[in-house]
Amino acid sequence: MPPTTGLSRRFSVAPMMDWTTPHFRYLARLLSRHTLLYTEMVTTGALIHGDTQRFLRHDPAEYPLALQLGGSHAGELAQCAKLAEQFGFDEVNLNVGCPSDRVQNNMIGACLMGHPDKVAEGVSAMIDATNLPVTVKHRIGINGRESWDELCEFVEKVAAAGCRTFIVHARIAILEGLSPKENRDIPPLKYDWVYRLKQTYPDLEIIINGGIKTFDECHDHLQHTDGVMLGREAYHNPWLLAGVDPEFFGERAPVQTRHEALRAMIPFIESELERGVFLTHISRHLLGLFHGIPGGRQFRRYISENAHKRGAGIEVIQAALEKVREHENPAIAEA
Ligand SMILES: Cc1cc2nc3c(=O)[nH]c(=O)nc-3n(C[C@H](O)[C@H](O)[C@H](O)COP(=O)(O)O)c2cc1C
Repeated sequence: MPPTTGLSRRFSVAPMMDWTTPHFRYLARLLSRHTLLYTEMVTTGALIHGDTQRFLRHDPAEYPLALQLGGSHAGELAQCAKLAEQFGFDEVNLNVGCPSDRVQNNMIGACLMGHPDKVAEGVSAMIDATNLPVTVKHRIGINGRESWDELCEFVEKVAAAGCRTFIVHARIAILEGLSPKENRDIPPLKYDWVYRLKQTYPDLEIIINGGIKTFDECHDHLQHTDGVMLGREAYHNPWLLAGVDPEFFGERAPVQTRHEALRAMIPFIESELERGVFLTHISRHLLGLFHGIPGGRQFRRYISENAHKRGAGIEVIQAALEKVREHENPAIAEA
């Protein structure tokens, strides 16, 4: 399958381990045609030595789709970038933002912000290995390396290696003492640093990430940057995505109601169940769909109480759907 043409990074959903699984992405794509989706991070070690097919598994319906890699060895990154292209992804992204200890030990994630030459070497090897766009997702710094000049040094070295697109989580990562979750909340957001990167390097594509919740906020950020990436809000309130095509791409939303979206997902869920996937592995990513509307709580409760039962099948989703009245609301997100 050739890469999708006309990929836009104006609006994207962040890579999130255990959250942006193929099942969540399928739902997200039913809600918006234009949102760029990212996989969970896959380490180069897992791809090369593990079950490659399983880690790269996705449905063509998910395109445009970027594969996020975790790693730092140039040869391995190149090999994995090639795999990304062979498997039909539209972009390959390098994770330089994840602060977990587990990944730091292997020189993966945010700790690489302290090694800009190594990142540049990896990016250059990836670019040589593939025709796909190679992008980098990073923080504005790490503890001990949090000056503006150090951020510029990082961006300049990686840009000199050929990277044109930087997705910037607008806070530093603190590599000792904070959990990954705390590292997504405690270091203060500095959106002005991301704006300043765009001013300093106008030829680079700069995408802003971190703490963005509403379309009004997105529009404000888009005054200063090339795109917005939303993580937690898009996951907890996926209906937001139904507003993206009208709001940012001047197109009608692909579905008009949440019911329509979920009904459109039923054949996919059925085929996943036939493959032996447990219903809970799929249904846990649907729980946010009726977030904040009457009946939403009953929908979630019904799924939580029934999807894990032995032999649970599509009837659980259908019964849960009946707990919520279908509103013919226009697909404008209630953010
Ligand atoms: C559950 C979870 C898993 C995450 N996994 C990844 C990951 O695999 N790769 C990555 O670059 N960032 C990961 N992140 C960070 C997000 O991509 C994003 O940068 C962060 O949540 C800030 O954006 P937000 O405030 O819009 O959520 C994860 C975040 C969450 C909540």
